[in-house]
Amino acid sequence: MNTNGKDRRKGIILAGGLGTRLFPLTISVSKQLLPVYDKPMIYYPLTTLMLAGIHNILIISTPESLPLFERLLGDGGKWGLAISYAPQQRPEGIAQAFLLGADFIGDDPIALILGDNIFYGDNLPELLRDISERTGVQTIFGYPVANPEAFGTVTVGDNGQIVDLLEKPGNPLSNLAVPGLYFYESDVVEVAAALKPSARGELEITSVNRTYFERGTLRVEILGRGWAWLDSGTHDTLLEASQFAKVMESRTGLKIACPEEVAYRMGFIDDGQLRKLANSLSHNEYGHYLLGLLDSKR
Ligand code: TTP
Repeated sequence: MNTNGKDRRKGIILAGGLGTRLFPLTISVSKQLLPVYDKPMIYYPLTTLMLAGIHNILIISTPESLPLFERLLGDGGKWGLAISYAPQQRPEGIAQAFLLGADFIGDDPIALILGDNIFYGDNLPELLRDISERTGVQTIFGYPVANPEAFGTVTVGDNGQIVDLLEKPGNPLSNLAVPGLYFYESDVVEVAAALKPSARGELEITSVNRTYFERGTLRVEILGRGWAWLDSGTHDTLLEASQFAKVMESRTGLKIACPEEVAYRMGFIDDGQLRKLANSLSHNEYGHYLLGLLDSKR
């Protein structure tokens, strides 16, 4: 493993899908545009990629929803990012993101995050930057959950090595779910292209991970008790995600997943750019928060 991947890594946010578990909320609105407390859901995965040091981001969503994401995020320039867009005609699996994003990925390492996944933890930026700079390996995460049968799971041996990967196991041997954040190298495009649709007609991300597991190049980072991983795909988990953001933000006075703040703290934008963004929102608490950042030290 070496660290030549520094700053070359690109990111994909997969923000399509049908969102059927959230109906009727998502009959006419994309799930990833719904509010999670004080901001659109997609801000959470977007800032996760930004904290990994990633500037170059492809957003994949349905043809109907892409213009709405574009209206919200533009070309990303306001936050020091380069954002582009690609349609997914039908939700034919998470691994399809690599086929739709093949030209975007080119020869560069890639991080994929699902548009409804929220990560929060003390050393998140350091961990993500460290992982992002690795080359020669692929990295997934493991997070303890009460209901592993609802997820792809990873079984880990005493030495921290992966022992097995299973998709929604009937009788799970591991309580570690695999969250929707994955770090691969550019050959993931070929790996995805070689997949056959599963019984449910999807190109499965677990099959991608299994390929690398069998090659011996897949690593897992266990996110322990000090972490929150939330997916906001049901009515209850959507509300829980909002409550989580509200409690953390009210208690600390610090925002979670605020792209303007992350861009500023990461050095993607300067004082003048932040002031402009803050002024455009200055009639509400969100804008006041941004103005307050200018008075505090980076
Ligand atoms: P899912 O939760 O599996 O699907 P969904 O969001 O359509 O929801 P539901 O089960 O309620 O119908 O998807 C997880 C994330 O990945 C979510 O952000 C949508 C996204 N996704 C796509 O964009 N395209 C796809 O082909 C798949 C399978 C998922």
